[in-house]
Amino acid sequence: MTIPDAGGTPPAPMDWDARFRADDAPWERKGLHPAFAHWQSLGQLQAAKSIYVPGCGRGEEPLALARAGLRVTAVDLSPTAIDWQKARFAGAGLSAHLEAGDALAFRPEAPFDLYWEQTFLCAISPKIRETYEAAAHAQLRAGGVLLALFMQKEEMGGPPYGCGLPAMRALFPDTRWQWPDGEPMAFPHPGLNAKAERGVALVRR
Ligand SMILES: C[S@@+](CC[C@H](N)C(=O)[O-])C[C@H]1O[C@@H](n2cnc3c(N)ncnc32)[C@H](O)[C@@H]1O
Repeated sequence: MTIPDAGGTPPAPMDWDARFRADDAPWERKGLHPAFAHWQSLGQLQAAKSIYVPGCGRGEEPLALARAGLRVTAVDLSPTAIDWQKARFAGAGLSAHLEAGDALAFRPEAPFDLYWEQTFLCAISPKIRETYEAAAHAQLRAGGVLLALFMQKEEMGGPPYGCGLPAMRALFPDTRWQWPDGEPMAFPHPGLNAKAERGVALVRR
């Protein structure tokens, strides 16, 4: 999904819908993210919990979460991706709130129990990361959990923009988010030169 860093020329904003229409989506894992089984084994994905999947694209996770009995809300800017999700849910005979729109502006009637972050934060401009953090804090209830997969990348530019752990510590401060102890699990991405995503369950204070 790289936009080359042209020397001095700001990259054009990504037309996500065009990428889906062209089936040009190298960020897709072509299968369920391994973090699903990881979070599930830790008891994070309990049936009946509400979960938000912002920037869901054509990921497998919304349907898998619904199959596990969670109440899914997924929002994406791309109508093509949302239509794809709707067709998948219809085919499976399951329901979810699937909406084309700005996932940062979306506000639920009741704040969510869980939040699934997968290659969404790394897809948006770093200039609006504080907006992302404020939105996630507003969208989750106190004690809710942001299940984050932070994209690790040394190179400048993007998307994907690197979400190194020191930067994430600053973006999600201890005063607002409780960080887990220990080394975050690493999930290499098969489609993005095996860049690792680091799994961190952040508890919203
Ligand atoms: C790199 S893709 C990841 C898609 C999916 N999470 C996955 O892992 O396959 C980034 C997604 O974020 C969506 N997106 C970007 N900005 C958005 C915004 N402000 N609100 C909602 N979706 C957005 C794009 O349309 C795209 O589907």
